[in-house]
Amino acid sequence: MAFPIHRMRRLRQNEKIRSLVRETRLSVEQLIYPIFVTFGKGIKSEIKSMPGNYRFSTDLLMQEIEELLKLGINSIILFGIPQSKDAVGSEAYNPKGIIQETIREIKGRFPELIVITDVCIDEYTDHGHCGLIKDGEILNDETLDLLAKMALTHAEAGADIVAPSDMMDGRVGAIRERLDEFGFSNIPIMAYSAKYASAFYGPFREAADSAPKFGDRKTYQMDLANGNEALREVELDFEEGADILMVKPALSYLDIIYRVKEEFRLPVAAYNVSGEYSMVVAAARNDWIERERMVMEILLSIRRAGADMILTYHAKEAAIMLAKD
Ligand code: PBG
Repeated sequence: MAFPIHRMRRLRQNEKIRSLVRETRLSVEQLIYPIFVTFGKGIKSEIKSMPGNYRFSTDLLMQEIEELLKLGINSIILFGIPQSKDAVGSEAYNPKGIIQETIREIKGRFPELIVITDVCIDEYTDHGHCGLIKDGEILNDETLDLLAKMALTHAEAGADIVAPSDMMDGRVGAIRERLDEFGFSNIPIMAYSAKYASAFYGPFREAADSAPKFGDRKTYQMDLANGNEALREVELDFEEGADILMVKPALSYLDIIYRVKEEFRLPVAAYNVSGEYSMVVAAARNDWIERERMVMEILLSIRRAGADMILTYHAKEAAIMLAKD
């Protein structure tokens, strides 16, 4: 009989011992903060469904970045709100577009900050889909050139990492090839490899004004029910040259994070998405949960599942808590 020789509580006696045997840790370097940027001046407008997150014009963004760096947050991912939208998302690959201009501004002031860019045309198309459209169909191969162009303009502006989130087949390869062709063979690709057609993106679509105007994203984003398919998606991105593999969303897909980490020897990112954030904030506002404890539990669980890094709207509050520990 194991008991009384074995007593699990021996190693739980006090915080020093618990800390000694702790298997998973979260540190601020592992956090990536998503930021929405818009043209204009003096803009810092709160996103209704994501309290505590804002759309920034570049001038006020600089103050925000200063604060992030002070907190030890070294990485951000940028999402752009363009001045105009059209059927082919031209602003997405305009060298003077919102993301391209923002990267230049950031890099001029804060060259040390890791700037990741989301590569997807849905924020830039008037129909809100991630691909070109013909007769109501979302085209795959025809979209690849646009994505490659978009990624190239980001790299030319100074992006450190590009992150395709469109879920078109073959986009990682197309982007890799284009970047290499233009001398950017050192720019890593963080692929949104296993991205599900999730209801958890709702608040983001308000923030980026990117909800599809017709239909849904189920012909390109993954079926919620599938796990093996996620591994196939990841394998294809790996073969096409992805450097970092992403699972998105995080919380309902911890099993996928775990499986990807077990199967592939690559860094794994998890996106703790907008809806996951908004649920916590809404419940905390009602005093139904303890926000700080819950945020740390969520982030730690994502790490325990196998994620090496986490994209999260909680990054700032987590950084403050981590600094206190
Ligand atoms: C697509 C993109 C989306 C998110 C990140 N990149 C939206 C979508 O696929 O509809 C969602 C992120 C979040 O919900 O926090 N450009």
